[in-house]
Amino acid sequence: MDLGSPEQDPEMKEGYSSVYVGREDDIKKSERMTAVVHDREVVIFYHKGEYHAMDIRCYHSGGPLHLGEIEDFDGRPCIVCPWHKFKITLATGEGLYQSINPKDPSAKPKWCSKGIKQRIHTVTVDNGKIYVTLSNEPVKYDSDFYATGNFKVIKS
Ligand code: FES
Repeated sequence: MDLGSPEQDPEMKEGYSSVYVGREDDIKKSERMTAVVHDREVVIFYHKGEYHAMDIRCYHSGGPLHLGEIEDFDGRPCIVCPWHKFKITLATGEGLYQSINPKDPSAKPKWCSKGIKQRIHTVTVDNGKIYVTLSNEPVKYDSDFYATGNFKVIKS
């Protein structure tokens, strides 16, 4: 890994350990929970039998994703940010948007991806306990801006 690369987030460390965040019974009832994992705020969703964890602040402008609604777009479950309604796929952190081809009069709006915008973390369940392991992918995602440095809410 090239630690000197400008694309490397200096706050993303190699080999994060998993952190216990709560009980499976509890999240199955509430369907979401928040946690601070290695000094990073995350939200964990339980949706249709699957767990998803991501940075809690929206990549667009830092909106509180734990307060958003989950809806399907193009068959993909997304969290809808409560601030400006950006749609983020739960599974991959992609930003989705609709586009129309103005040269095609019959065109229906089509769902497209902006690529991965929100950093997704790994959820594991062991013996009824939920653990989150932070992503340490050595690339910058837009949500890192609100999760690290001067913009993170939790100060170390
Ligand atoms: Fe989330 Fe703007 S802050 S859509």
